[in-house]
Amino acid sequence: MRIAVFGLGYVGLVTAACLAEWDHDVVGVDASAARRKALDAGELPFHEPGLADLVARHRAGGRLRFAADGEGDVVASALKEADAVVVAVGTHDGNGGWQTTTMLACLGQVVPAMRDDAVLVIRSTLPPEFVNRLRSVVAELRGTRRPISTVLNPEFTREGTAIADFLGPERVVIGIVDDADGSGERRARDLYAKVEAPILTMSAIDAGFSKLGANLFLATKISFANELARLCALYGADVGSVVEAMAFDARIGGAFLRPGVGFGGSCLPHQVTMTTEAAARSGVDIPLLAAVDAVNHRQRETFVELLALGLDGSLVGRRVALLGLSFKPDTDDLRDAPALTIARRLLTLGAQPVAYDPLAVTRDRAAALIEGLEVVESVDAAVEGADAIGLVTEWAEFSSIDWTVVKEAMRGRVVVDGRNALDVQRVLDAGLAYYGFGRRVVDQPPSVKSTAPEPAARNVQDVTDRIEVPA
Ligand code: UDX
Repeated sequence: MRIAVFGLGYVGLVTAACLAEWDHDVVGVDASAARRKALDAGELPFHEPGLADLVARHRAGGRLRFAADGEGDVVASALKEADAVVVAVGTHDGNGGWQTTTMLACLGQVVPAMRDDAVLVIRSTLPPEFVNRLRSVVAELRGTRRPISTVLNPEFTREGTAIADFLGPERVVIGIVDDADGSGERRARDLYAKVEAPILTMSAIDAGFSKLGANLFLATKISFANELARLCALYGADVGSVVEAMAFDARIGGAFLRPGVGFGGSCLPHQVTMTTEAAARSGVDIPLLAAVDAVNHRQRETFVELLALGLDGSLVGRRVALLGLSFKPDTDDLRDAPALTIARRLLTLGAQPVAYDPLAVTRDRAAALIEGLEVVESVDAAVEGADAIGLVTEWAEFSSIDWTVVKEAMRGRVVVDGRNALDVQRVLDAGLAYYGFGRRVVDQPPSVKSTAPEPAARNVQDVTDRIEVPA
């Protein structure tokens, strides 16, 4: 099929490259001429494992081309030739809210120019009220011409594994916005001809909610795990063993039950917050999701509390090494990253955060975002002279840290594991004190035992009032 993809951000660029991988002929269009130029030079606007190779291969093979909005002729002919036009422009306002201005502008550009028999595929995540308006928005832009078949095709790809998620999905959802003769659904299914997973057709609002529902449930699982970790800490149970046993129950499953600093990124926090706010505005009571949100915010604070607990209640003047800045490993995405909240809080409490992330671009962006945050280029530089270390993002690199070497370089000996990702025993064997989220810590060396709080307190306990707040 000939496909035009509008919007070359996380969703659009992955979509364009993966559709080319399935032998479709793809033109990717972005509003930014600079982005198009960079893509043609082989530079990606963000880090996603495997994407650069995929883009390079299909550009070289001619199945993937790029254009910018300014190049009127190229865009017009791409639109005229396209059997399917995929819209994947951003819908975040950059301030935690929704915006549909970009989507409306893009639809205004593509809808009038599309062939009558082409299908319009909306892949951006939309606010539910906009999904309900989509049919009339498209019809109005089409004017008196034959209505364009339109479907909503939500993406379920995760950053860091987006290519594998796209090429091997667990399901594909096609929500019918407007499709009088069924040709839109047929063409949308043709896009995914190589997929073996179920392709589900439903109404547009059901499709939108299938994405929203999935993300709200994943967020709920994580906040549940964070509460479970607190209970485990209270009674001396180990949350890892508990979840391992729970996961054998097919009704539960083990995924998304890892406690720690909580969820970040562009999807989960945004959708939980937007949903609770919209429900509150409409007078609909959804206390569970409000609690999911509250628990998630509290986890970041708990991480800081654990650092303070290890440092006898005061962070003033303390050097705290933060390992990992992105909201999860294998991405350079800092949107709603717990590390940013934590770094800001540490600065407010008088500490000096020193951060390291494996990706230089992430380090540079974080430094630009947070005045006073020191960023360094290696784990060694981060831990040098540190009073405490906090692991925020579980990059693979951190699992091979030699804690004995770290102990020598540090001034203090506190290690807070914000992802329950470290090998507890290796940290303890190095003579360091380990603080986790509901993990049982045994065999603490006597030297640490004498100064460390009781076992449960080395875990997720409410200790806010113990933090000294600088005047
Ligand atoms: C999410 C959805 O998973 C994906 O289906 C959707 O298309 C886009 O939003 P993404 O934002 O890339 O994907 O990240 P995800 O892997 O879902 O992780 C979200 C956050 O939850 C991360 O900060 C991660 O560290 C955190 N997390 C995840 C936990 O804290 N505990 C877990 O057990 C799992």
